[in-house]
Amino acid sequence: MSPDEFLQHCDTLESQALAAFAAAEAVCDQKQLEAARIEFLGARSGRIKQLQKALGEVPAAAKPAAGKRFNQLKQKLEETFDKAAQTIAQRSRQQVEAQRQRAFDPTVPGTALRLGRLHPITQTIEELKDIMGRLGFAVAEGPEVEDEWHNFEALNIPPEHPARDPLENFYLAAAANCAPWQSASSGKQAQSAANSPPRLLRSQTSTVQIRVMEQMRPPVRVISCGRVYRPDTPDDTHFPMFHQIEGLMVDRDVTMGHLKSTLRLLARMAFAPDVEIRFRPSFFPFTEPSVEVDMSWQGGWIEMGGAGMVDPNVLRAVGYDPEQYSGFAFGLGIERICARRHGVTDIRQFFRNDVRFLHQF
Ligand code: FA5
Repeated sequence: MSPDEFLQHCDTLESQALAAFAAAEAVCDQKQLEAARIEFLGARSGRIKQLQKALGEVPAAAKPAAGKRFNQLKQKLEETFDKAAQTIAQRSRQQVEAQRQRAFDPTVPGTALRLGRLHPITQTIEELKDIMGRLGFAVAEGPEVEDEWHNFEALNIPPEHPARDPLENFYLAAAANCAPWQSASSGKQAQSAANSPPRLLRSQTSTVQIRVMEQMRPPVRVISCGRVYRPDTPDDTHFPMFHQIEGLMVDRDVTMGHLKSTLRLLARMAFAPDVEIRFRPSFFPFTEPSVEVDMSWQGGWIEMGGAGMVDPNVLRAVGYDPEQYSGFAFGLGIERICARRHGVTDIRQFFRNDVRFLHQF
């Protein structure tokens, strides 16, 4: 091919390609632009590729000039294509936005947001914390996965006590002591899992009494609210996972009188100003004496939970001197308190996650 012929091909290709890119840009058509790109700049059989082949046929002496022209042309076409693509993309975005704004009618009422609300158990916990906070009790937290020391031993519950029966508790399998994504399949892991101390889901919030007293010296005045777990068959007053509020006060000269007046204030603030409190003798290994606490409600008595004076053995277990200090503790079931307050007759309702039920509170 003669140099002149080659240059003429370049000119023709240039004007046709620029016209094709401009036409696509003018109508803002992404597909048309892409078709033009394939026709002129396509890597396999684009016309620029054919021109490149023709360059090989130009006599050697004219090749540098022809090659320069070819490179300029290629660069110009690529730049023009890029610019056209950007312009089309930007205009498309503007069109979409304009369309969106045209579609927005400020006179049409908006879609009402369905606002959630706190679960009734959470609401009750917050109220109990608030009441006890006003009585000077700070909030303490403890883990839900416990060791036997905090769940039993320090609470004066000896190994032979029926409350420690594995069937009465949710013990974690030894292998479960690994992180959930690990398995104790290797011999070494299985060995270390077997050697690690047993752990269980706490069966009562009384564990937090121990954790608090291990951390601080008297005076102690704390409450702790949280989940506890027992393999109880669900019925209208039982669930295998439920919540308790634990109260603990330890100081010099703390008496049953303090316990009773604290619980009476709690019940009156949570329920009604005229409720009464009654103690019935009971037994808990970690309190002595121990009582069941009942509350007068709608002409009868309802059970609130257990309470008592902290057993000297428990005080000793955490390094307190029972000759100097005494304390009271109580543990109440939050589901039953919540149910009574709202007239709910079956605590299983709280955990069915039926929003029609939950929405009432
Ligand atoms: C205890 O758990 C003692 N830790 C309470 C205590 C604390 C006594 C401090 C002395 C000093 P008890 O097992 O009775 O006690 O449980 C307390 C309350 O938890 C019960 O009165 C009841 O309201 C609630 N409760 C017990 N089991 C369930 C269950 N499966 N489902 C729902 N609530 C339950």
